[in-house]
Amino acid sequence: MLLLHLTDIDEAGWADGFARALAPRRVVQRGDDFDPAEVEYIFVWKPAADAFQGLTGLKAVLSLGAGVDALMAHPNLPDVPMVRFVDDDLSQRMSDYVVAHVTMHHRLYTRFRADQKARRWSQLYPPAASQTTVGIMGLGVLGQDALSRLKPLGFTLRGWSRTHKPIDGVTTFAGQDAFDAFLSGTDILVNLLPLTAQTEGILNYKTFSKLRRGKLEGGPVIVNAARGAHQKEADIVRALGDGTLGAASLDVFETEPLPDDSPLWSIENCYITPHIAAISSQTTGVAYFSRVIKDHEAGKPLVNVVDRERGY
Ligand code: NDP
Ligand code: OXD
Repeated sequence: MLLLHLTDIDEAGWADGFARALAPRRVVQRGDDFDPAEVEYIFVWKPAADAFQGLTGLKAVLSLGAGVDALMAHPNLPDVPMVRFVDDDLSQRMSDYVVAHVTMHHRLYTRFRADQKARRWSQLYPPAASQTTVGIMGLGVLGQDALSRLKPLGFTLRGWSRTHKPIDGVTTFAGQDAFDAFLSGTDILVNLLPLTAQTEGILNYKTFSKLRRGKLEGGPVIVNAARGAHQKEADIVRALGDGTLGAASLDVFETEPLPDDSPLWSIENCYITPHIAAISSQTTGVAYFSRVIKDHEAGKPLVNVVDRERGY
């Protein structure tokens, strides 16, 4: 039996999809009449504190999200494998966001928008893509997909991960010791890290002040499409104000929804989107997790299992 436990998501729509894909297996929602001991798989997004209560026959937790930080912090997380979402459609959507914001900043959008507002004709040629270095933090599923889509656009690319990841056409750096070297050649910093104790608050003033200056008019830029707790918003406000950063594109925030009184809302060179960089598609999600369940029942190993020690 599969139990759905989705908050702020169309749970009934997903349940219909799973019922069709997994028939004749039983698919239930929280309000249905069922014996919790018979639940083998639970599909979750923002599970409540009692989400796993009574699930004594649970075999795996299935995460709608690619990021599992909230799940890892759950006070009653059962000791069963956790499978996260890895999906071409999700990767494509995230890369769409990354490419849109990287190209926008590379072409000095902030500068020319301000010029237009001031009715100012001031020719300034953006650097060639090859003279602009995009640095991606996190070389996992999403980071590597973003790199593969930025590469044909001609940018100089670099990436940073925990363990060494050689990638053709990309200068890669690994570990804390290489962080400063990675930053020192980066003009546009893109965050696609998971949120862990090691990565929390990594987008801070010290980090910003280590980025390369002098290549991108207005200053280096950050793009955060991972988690709000990666960023120190007070530091972003300060850095955007004093020119340490030329601009910031933020899809995620320390508190979501972003509070009405956040100074970020009204900063001209801060580009805000409401955690919409990439959504898990119901069609591909149902197909992926139904396959996970069927393969597991057939005795195959689970894929994309979260490593609890690493936290992602
Ligand atoms: P992966 O687990 O595939 O990749 C994580 C990458 O981060 C790996 O390269 C890993 O290094 C690296 N990493 C982890 N810890 C550290 C560290 N301490 N120092 C340096 N590098 C580190 O994750 P995904 O690419 O699938 O997803 C990334 C994140 O994107 C998710 O966790 C989620 O928070 C976010 N996300 C946001 C969405 C949105 O709409 N805003 C949508 C979907 C995801 P290594 O390779 O050595 O293991
Ligand atoms: C995710 C997200 O982690 O949507 O998938 O944030």
